[in-house]
Amino acid sequence: MTLSHTTEVIEYFRRKADGYDRVDEQVYWRLSDELLWEAMSRYVIPHIPDKAVLLDAGGGTGRWTDRMLRHRPDMSALLFDLSEHMTRHAEAKAERGGYGERLSIVNGDLADLVEKAGDRKFDIAISFHNVLGFVRDVRSVLQQIAAVLNPGGQLVLVLPNRYHAVFFNLLTGSVSEAESAAFDRRGRFTSDMPAMHLFTPAELVGALNESGLPVAISTGFPVAVYPGFQETQIAGTSGLVSDVFADQSAYDRIKAIEFRLLGEPGLAERGNNLFVVARKPPESPARS
Ligand SMILES: C[S@@+](CC[C@H](N)C(=O)[O-])C[C@H]1O[C@@H](n2cnc3c(N)ncnc32)[C@H](O)[C@@H]1O
Repeated sequence: MTLSHTTEVIEYFRRKADGYDRVDEQVYWRLSDELLWEAMSRYVIPHIPDKAVLLDAGGGTGRWTDRMLRHRPDMSALLFDLSEHMTRHAEAKAERGGYGERLSIVNGDLADLVEKAGDRKFDIAISFHNVLGFVRDVRSVLQQIAAVLNPGGQLVLVLPNRYHAVFFNLLTGSVSEAESAAFDRRGRFTSDMPAMHLFTPAELVGALNESGLPVAISTGFPVAVYPGFQETQIAGTSGLVSDVFADQSAYDRIKAIEFRLLGEPGLAERGNNLFVVARKPPESPARS
């Protein structure tokens, strides 16, 4: 990857920024968000200390910082992202939500996280939806996140699953993208997005363990309903998804299936998204 890759990423999110939050209107993404929040509520939020400081790495328009800061008025956050066009929306959300004093925004490349974070330390870091796939050196970014986490702090990652990317691209007729995902571990879901690195659960768990962040939870979601081509766009619903979510009761029953399966061992490989929680070891007591 070259510097022009970063420029391509900035340009892509400049175009996407104003419509990005419209994913809220798509039924598939509504379910995906509910599953992510359920996973956070089960596996992460109970372990967040009082007055915790959150790092949202590649936080974009602030959809998840917004959710966390509204849910936990004791918390404050730093949203760190390459794209000013995306973070402008996070700023507007903070103003509307009345938590502007609890949110700082820094525009920068995660490659420079330690330098840009200064002496800030965090109790929890989140990085959701593709971010780590776009960075140039994943290990370096993971090590930098580990360095800015307090002992006992958590890192939560949501990333697309390489195995699912192979399936999805064949489903939508893009054999060359499926080949790229299978052979080169790089790929994309639409022709206008920059290619990104695609992770398998084992690869991600290995990279985290080696970065000093032992993995506590590795699973995937959704595992029973997959997006179609339209769900990769800002608006629209594919025939497949609208058929399965025909009405509220179908939606509720599918959600109950997903909630039941969420977190079962072995389902990481089947998820559209990988969901991984790693925890920085607490400081060991000094030896006398
Ligand atoms: C698909 S968006 C996800 C935004 C947010 N995490 C969410 O779940 O709504 C990916 C974000 O990653 C940011 N990003 C990509 N590469 C980055 C890098 N090297 N450093 C910082 N941010 C980056 C983009 O600017 C974009 O806002």
